[in-house]
Amino acid sequence: MARITAGVATSHVPAIGAALDLGKSADAYWAPVFKGYEFSKRWIAAAKPDVVILVYNDHATAFSLDLVPTFAIGCAASFTPADEGWGARPVPVVEGHPELADHIAQSVIQQDFDLTIVNRLDVDHGLTVPLSLMFGQPQAWPCRVIPIAVNVVLYPPPSGQRCYNLGKAIRRAVDSFDGDLNVQIWGTGGMSHQLQGPRAGLINREFDNAFLDRLIHDPQAQARVPHIEYVREAGSEGIELVMWLLMRGALDARVREVHRFYHVPASNTALGHLILENPAEPDGRGDPQA
Ligand code: DHB
Ligand code: FE
Repeated sequence: MARITAGVATSHVPAIGAALDLGKSADAYWAPVFKGYEFSKRWIAAAKPDVVILVYNDHATAFSLDLVPTFAIGCAASFTPADEGWGARPVPVVEGHPELADHIAQSVIQQDFDLTIVNRLDVDHGLTVPLSLMFGQPQAWPCRVIPIAVNVVLYPPPSGQRCYNLGKAIRRAVDSFDGDLNVQIWGTGGMSHQLQGPRAGLINREFDNAFLDRLIHDPQAQARVPHIEYVREAGSEGIELVMWLLMRGALDARVREVHRFYHVPASNTALGHLILENPAEPDGRGDPQA
C-alpha cells in the first residue's frame, strides 16, 4: 500500500532559487538560509520518497487572473519549469505520477472536494524552489512530484480549515492506493511577509513561532484561525501558510518533529522550515480526532 511517511514545510522565496542558480548560496546573506537545509538534504537522501505531493501556489504564472482554481491537481506525466519573466530556472523537468494523481483526484472528488484537473502545467518558483532547497542541484529530481495548487493569490483564498480537511481527504486517497509507494507531502510558502502597500516588509516572529508550535501540536486549533487573522498578523502574503495546514492534515495526529528552522530575513520574508514524520507504525486513519 502507499503510505504518507512524512511532511515537509518550507518557504518558497524566489530569490532563493536565483541565489542557487547564480552561484550565490555561499554569500554572507544566503549562507545562513542554506545552512538550515543541510540536515534536510541528508534526511531526505535517507528517506528516499518515491513521490512528493507538493502543495504550492501558482503566482499568476500558469493560471492568469482570467482563470484561478481554488484547488488544482497536476495529473500530467511531466511539468516544465515556468518562465516567470526572466527565463525558466535551469532546473530539471519535474516528473509527475499520473497513476497516483488520477487516483487522488478520483478519491478526493468523490469525498466532495472540487479539485480542478490540470493536464498541462508549467510550475513556478512556488514548486521548484522547495525542490532545490531539499535536493540541491541534481541532474534529475530524485522522485516523482504531484503538484497541488492552492489559490492564495486572488481573493478569496480557501480557509485554513478547508485546507486542513483537504489534507485529510488526500491522506485517505493515498492510503487506498494499490501500490507500494513511499509518499511525502510538502506544504510551501510563508511565513510572515507582505510584498506590497504601506506594510510591505512586515515580519511577525511571534505569530510565526506560535503558528509553528500549533501546527505541530494542535493543528485543529490552528485550522480554526480565519484568513483575516493571517492577513492582519502575517501580512497579505502570510496567507500562504494555509498550505502548511493542508500538509499537516495529511499526517497523523501525533507527529515527530525531526527538524525546525526559522530565519529572518530571506528576501521580504521570514523563512520557516519543518520536517515532521508520521509514526513508524501507521494507524491508517490519519488524525483520529477528525
Ligand atoms: C517573495 C516571496 C514569495 O513567497 C513570493 O512568492 C514572491 C516573492 C519575496 O520575498 O520576494
Ligand atoms: Fe509565494
